[in-house]
Amino acid sequence: MTELDERLASFLPAEGGQQDIVIRAMRDAFLAGGKRVRPRLCWETYRLFGGTGEEIWPMMAALEMIHTSSLIHDDLPAMDNDRLRRGRPTTWVSFGEDMAILAGDGLMIYAFETAARALSMGAPADRVSAAMAELARRTGIFGMIGGQTADVAWTGKPVPRETLEFIYREKTGALLEASMVTGAILAGADEAQQEAVRRIASCVGMAFQIRDDLLDIESTEEELGKPIGSDERNQKTTFVTVYGEEKARELVRSYSEEAVALLGTLPGDTEPLARLIRSLMDRKN
Ligand code: IPE
Ligand code: IPE
Ligand code: MG
Ligand code: MG
Ligand code: MG
Repeated sequence: MTELDERLASFLPAEGGQQDIVIRAMRDAFLAGGKRVRPRLCWETYRLFGGTGEEIWPMMAALEMIHTSSLIHDDLPAMDNDRLRRGRPTTWVSFGEDMAILAGDGLMIYAFETAARALSMGAPADRVSAAMAELARRTGIFGMIGGQTADVAWTGKPVPRETLEFIYREKTGALLEASMVTGAILAGADEAQQEAVRRIASCVGMAFQIRDDLLDIESTEEELGKPIGSDERNQKTTFVTVYGEEKARELVRSYSEEAVALLGTLPGDTEPLARLIRSLMDRKN
């Protein structure tokens, strides 16, 4: 485990008690790894706006918990029906569908309990409440869950382009947006700065999901740690099926470049965040 992984893992509930099995399932999915993109974006945005304290860590862990919960549910037989995630059997394969549903629920709500821990670490209450409101909104029906809803509802049907864009901005973009915006809020960024961050994150989100679609067709199961060809098997309309591979690749580049250019208009040392955004452009997993 990396230092980042260990630090994030320290926020997980300990095994034991009557609910041991669901906690084991939550830990299994979380500890399997992953790129930790959302906590890293949160951290870098916090630093950009002058944040130096430890109180950013509960939010970073919360973001990864919500993300992991979305993966557990996304892989369920009723959704994408995938058996491999982060190089390991998916939660429903290891623990059964019932426990996978509960583990996803468990992680999603434990995330908010975790985020609230910033208060006891001395973070200003107004910032913590604003950050938690942002996290809740962009996780729920006006964010990730809304996007997953449209993704599922349109499966197997020809999806209008603006609906496809809505799906990407919400199912994937929303949590990436919350990652950066909560980092900005907790560091004390003003509203105009928060809006600038939201626009940047929205571009990052589009690029991230289109890159995910490309990897689903061009990568290998070993490198990706999840099955390839999942989208085709599930009859998903994606940016690759609509625009073709070449155009999709170009869109990943242009959304990422737009994000970096917008970032350049913000004060402070934007280079670490720019480097992270650029690294996502040609990621291999
Ligand atoms: C996969 O997310 C699901 C999408 C939103 C595209 P990641 O590519 O961040 O998955 P991990 O966390 O690295 O496993
Ligand atoms: C999932 O999109 C977005 C989530 C909110 C989980 P995908 O269904 O394309 O993600 P993967 O490819 O299974 O990781
Ligand atoms: Mg899916
Ligand atoms: Mg999936
Ligand atoms: Mg995918």
